[in-house]
Amino acid sequence: MSVKTSQTTPAALPPSVFTLSPTAQLEALYTIIRDKTTSRGDFIFYSDRIIRLLVEEGLDHLPVVPKTVQTPTGSTYEGVGYEGKICGVSILRAGEAMEAGLREVCRSIRIGKILLQRDEETTLPKYYYSKFPEDIASRSVLLLDPVLASGGSSMKAVEILKEHGVPEERIIFINLISAPEGLKAFCTKYPAVRVITGWIDKGLNEKAYILPGLGDFGDRRYCL
Ligand code: URA
Repeated sequence: MSVKTSQTTPAALPPSVFTLSPTAQLEALYTIIRDKTTSRGDFIFYSDRIIRLLVEEGLDHLPVVPKTVQTPTGSTYEGVGYEGKICGVSILRAGEAMEAGLREVCRSIRIGKILLQRDEETTLPKYYYSKFPEDIASRSVLLLDPVLASGGSSMKAVEILKEHGVPEERIIFINLISAPEGLKAFCTKYPAVRVITGWIDKGLNEKAYILPGLGDFGDRRYCL
């Protein structure tokens, strides 16, 4: 049976935005994590499955160079190898949930951290702390945050990475779910950053939660 999937795709996505193929399998995974009756254990298990798909998609965007190897049959194979070094950077707290998925495919990858918190007076994200590999300016960065809602936190994170010398072209922002408003704001401000998103939802409510969304990702993963 073919299933009609329900992703809201803005008419023309900016060229820097890449989505996972909205297959029935992917929609089934999202249906589980959106369901408010899903247990914390299942939320972790099924969101991890989506994270793994997203990380694989993100790795597709890393630069490669020609690489020739000899195979056990005595043949020469002209393939490719990754060019340069990479690192992950997670936006705390929710972004930490994506680190294990990244480590599963990039064994000893270095991971930096950025701690931001919403300033209740201004509603803007306030910067508290960051720690990066010393040579981050020469690495490609996979920026990890599961939710792109209004875009405030991810835009602040890119600003901090740029201050540390990472050019926009070398940042790949990976998230599970995004709102069109945040996606538009982010891509307008940072058109050269590639965005890998698993699903684009309908929009935001007055409290900046994504609709239909999945609730507070960090609470569902760590607290509920
Ligand atoms: N953060 C979340 O975890 N969920 C939303 O819907 C918006 C922000």
